[in-house]
Amino acid sequence: MNTRIVIIGAGQAGANAAMALRRQGHAGPVVLVGEEVHLPYERPPLSKDALLRPQQARLALYTQEQFAEQDITLKLGLRATAIDSQAGTVSLANGETLAYDKLLLAIGAQPRRLPALDALGECTHVLRTLEDAQQIRAQAQAGKRALLVGAGVIGLELASSLSELGLQVDVVDPARRAMLRNSPEPIGAFLQATHEARGVRFHFATGVQAAERRGDAIHLTLDNGTQLQGDLLVYGIGVSVDTTLADSAGLRCEQGAIVVDERCRTSQTGIYAAGDAVVQIDADGQRSRIESWENANLQAAAAVSDMLDQDLATPTVPWFWTDQCGYNVQFAGDMAAPHWLLRGTPGQGPFVALGLADGTIVGAVTVNAGKDMRPAKELIARRAQVDEALLRDPAVALRELAKMS
Ligand code: NAI
Repeated sequence: MNTRIVIIGAGQAGANAAMALRRQGHAGPVVLVGEEVHLPYERPPLSKDALLRPQQARLALYTQEQFAEQDITLKLGLRATAIDSQAGTVSLANGETLAYDKLLLAIGAQPRRLPALDALGECTHVLRTLEDAQQIRAQAQAGKRALLVGAGVIGLELASSLSELGLQVDVVDPARRAMLRNSPEPIGAFLQATHEARGVRFHFATGVQAAERRGDAIHLTLDNGTQLQGDLLVYGIGVSVDTTLADSAGLRCEQGAIVVDERCRTSQTGIYAAGDAVVQIDADGQRSRIESWENANLQAAAAVSDMLDQDLATPTVPWFWTDQCGYNVQFAGDMAAPHWLLRGTPGQGPFVALGLADGTIVGAVTVNAGKDMRPAKELIARRAQVDEALLRDPAVALRELAKMS
C-alpha cells in the first residue's frame, strides 16, 4: 500500500498519471518531478490560442490546489539527472535523491535543432514550451515577415496563427507536400490550398541551403535558388528524445526512443515510460511511435493500471487533431492507407476522407465534421468493408454505416 511512485516529467502524460494513481486508489507517496518551472500545462494551445489570444489561453492541466488535495508532491524546475535501477533511486539536479518502488518516465521529446538556424540569434525560434510561444508572440506584429521551416503540424498551425495575426508567411519544406508524415494526400492538398488562399507561400521539395542575418533581416537561400527574407523564423522539423536518463537506468531503447510493451513497462522491472519518449512494441512485435496528446493520456493510464495491478483499457484507434485557418481536422487510424476516397467536396463545407486497404476501412480524416469521427473510428476498429458507392455518398450517414457493418 505504501508503494512509493516517482514520475519524471510533468507534462500531459506525467501529470495525468499522477492524478490517475489517486483516482484509481493508490494511497502511497506520489512525487512528480518536472524540469519546467510551470505547473503542468497542455501544449496544443501553444501554436494557437497562446499566440492569438494569450490572455484567454487556458493551459494549466490542474491547479496547485488540486495537486495538494490529491497529496501529490510537486518538484518543479528540477531536472532528474540519473536513475540507479539497482538501488531504486533517482538523482535530481539539486543533489537530492528520491527513492522509488515504481518509476514512470514521461520525459517527452525536444524539437530537433538546426545549428545553422539557431546561429541567427533571437529572431529564430522552435515551439515546444510556453516560453517559446511567448517569445514568438512578442515578435509577431502585423506586417512582419515570418519564415517557417517545416510544413508539419507545427509549421502549419503557426502559418495559420501568424497569417491571422497579419504577418506575411513563407513555409519551406524539402518534402513534396504539407504534412507528408501524418496526413493523406487529399488532406495535405486541401490544407495547402486553404493556406494559400490566405496568402501563405509554400516552397516544397527544397531545403534551406544558407541562412544569414543582415542587420535586422533574415536572408534564406533555398536549395532551388529562391531567396527569402524575414523578420522572424520558426522551425518545426520533428522531435528527438533525450535517452540519457533511460541509458543511465540501462533501459532498452530503439529508434532513439524508450522501448515499452503494451502495458508501458520498460525492460527494467518497476520502471515504466509513456508519451512522446516511447516506442511501443506489442505482443505481435508491431512497433508504434505516436506523438500525440491522446497517446500521452492513454499510455499514462496504461502504466498506472499496470502499477496498480488493474486491467488495461481496451486499445483504441489512434486519434489526433489540428486546427488551421478555421478548420478543425481530426485524424484516426492509418494515414498511410493506399487508397483514399472523399465524402463531400474539399472547399465546399465539411467533408470526410476515408482510407482503404484492400477494401477495408483503416483510416479517416474529418474536416469540420467532428461528429463523424466516432462512427469513423468504429468502422476502423471493426475493419469494416463497405460498398464504396455508399461510403462516397454524404447522404448516407457514417453512423448508419457503422450500425450496418
Ligand atoms: P512533424 O514531424 O509533424 O513535421 C516536421 C516537418 O519538417 C516535415 O514536414 C518534414 O518534412 C520537415 N523537415 C524535416 N527536416 C527539415 C529540414 N531540414 N528543413 C525543413 N523542413 C524539414 O513535426 P513538427 O511539426 O515539428 O511537430 C513536432 C511534434 O509536435 C510532432 O510530434 C507533432 O506530432 C507534434 N504536434 C502535434 C500537433 C497535433 O497533434 N495537432 C500539433 C503540433 C505539433
